Amino acid sequence: MKYKNRFLLVFSLFLGSISFAQHQYYNEPYRPQFHFTAEKNWLNDPNGLVYYKGEYHLFYQHNPSGRNWGNMHWGHAVSTDMIRWQHRPLAVFPLDGTPDNYSCPAFSGSAVVDWNNSSKLQKGKEKTLVAIYTAFKCGQRIVYSNDKGRTWKSYPDPVIPLMKEGTMDERDPKVFWHEPTKKWVMALYIGPDKDHKERGIAFYTSGNLLQWEQKSFLKGMYECPDLFELPVEGTSERKWVLHAADGGYMVGNFDGTKFTPETDIIKMDLGNNFYAAQSYSDIPEKDGRRIQIAWMSGGTYPGSPFNQQMSFPCVLTLKRFNEGIRVCRNPVAEIKNMYGERFSFRNQPVAPGSNILGEIKGDALDIRAVIQTGAAKGFGFVVRKGDYETSGTVIHYDVLNKKLQVLGKSLDLEPVNGKIDMRILLDRSSVEIFANGGKLSFSSCFIPIHTFNDLEFYSNEGNVHIDEIEIHKIRSAWR
Ligand code: FRU
Repeated sequence: MKYKNRFLLVFSLFLGSISFAQHQYYNEPYRPQFHFTAEKNWLNDPNGLVYYKGEYHLFYQHNPSGRNWGNMHWGHAVSTDMIRWQHRPLAVFPLDGTPDNYSCPAFSGSAVVDWNNSSKLQKGKEKTLVAIYTAFKCGQRIVYSNDKGRTWKSYPDPVIPLMKEGTMDERDPKVFWHEPTKKWVMALYIGPDKDHKERGIAFYTSGNLLQWEQKSFLKGMYECPDLFELPVEGTSERKWVLHAADGGYMVGNFDGTKFTPETDIIKMDLGNNFYAAQSYSDIPEKDGRRIQIAWMSGGTYPGSPFNQQMSFPCVLTLKRFNEGIRVCRNPVAEIKNMYGERFSFRNQPVAPGSNILGEIKGDALDIRAVIQTGAAKGFGFVVRKGDYETSGTVIHYDVLNKKLQVLGKSLDLEPVNGKIDMRILLDRSSVEIFANGGKLSFSSCFIPIHTFNDLEFYSNEGNVHIDEIEIHKIRSAWR
């Protein structure tokens, strides 16, 4: 080969490898396309969810050196829409340590904007962002930022030392400003010990984020508490919601020191992979949303450089139903930023054996459907279907028994005025379903055959009537 030709060959291989690398970025077969994942390695709980000056911060439990849990740091990412994230350097580190020799890993916590400089930690003109977290076995601690979350400094002392030497289970502080009492409030998980015979949530207050006083203790909930107030839709009533890691919540009242439940523990999400959800702090009043992100715990991602993903951000609202006040979850409207091709079907019957969605392919879709159950015994969608009959994942509604059946679960779902409304967010390795206005929420991971991309809508033993099916392809958030 002539010298020049050899040069061209090498040069084109070089260019090819660059474009291959770009093409591959965040494009692995199970890599979520519009859900948050760490670039590589392990993540679990969302931490420090806070909004400041147009930016949503997402911190997360992260092992920067391995695909399994351990060596916990806070990873960090920033976004203007909670979908397209920019990775930032690690924000919180294990105390005393090198990666191999640490004593107090950085466990979960929350973050707030210290608008009135109550902590006196403000240096320049930017308000201080204060993150309160658990240094496991070293008490509750603070890191803070004077530059919009770009860099973080450690406050030297724990703000709540361990209550008892050797007690380990005090963790996951969730802090917010309580306007009526003009105090900071912290909900903190306390594990069982000889004083607190049962585990539960302790409530603290503070004037400055640095000194805290315990005010009350509520038995019975576990890990990662969250506490917030919401209006009950269509009324002038407001209620408080206390939520814990397993998705259990109670509706009740909070007077600034004590939570008084008015319900039993209710599940916020009925899927297979929903844990340690947290809601955003400091969303501006004119926006007013209570936005929540959960860890989709327990998914598997064979052969992927990353491990675990976050749920899609959802807005929480309170509605009164016959059985009482319930939280509804619905995806944030920002998903529209990612919409690609649109397909719409209106006002048409579907008979057994047909598939009106036969032309639509996709591994990242937003599907909205309002279906009149009609004479059919059942109907549903098959997602990630391939070229053999039983392939794909079935989202089935059993009309006779009024059950939504999907990924091993069978969930009560009553039609409203003879109709089921359903929203499905499909990503490469997860399915989130929101039915009847978000009263039913279902978050699950799954492993499809990655080359199978067909979509089907079917009815069984009778017609259903489609009021509306609207489908958008979702573009990748990572390109
Ligand atoms: C919940 C949890 C928290 C803890 C963190 C450690 O998933 O166990 O209680 O702070 O994860 O990674």
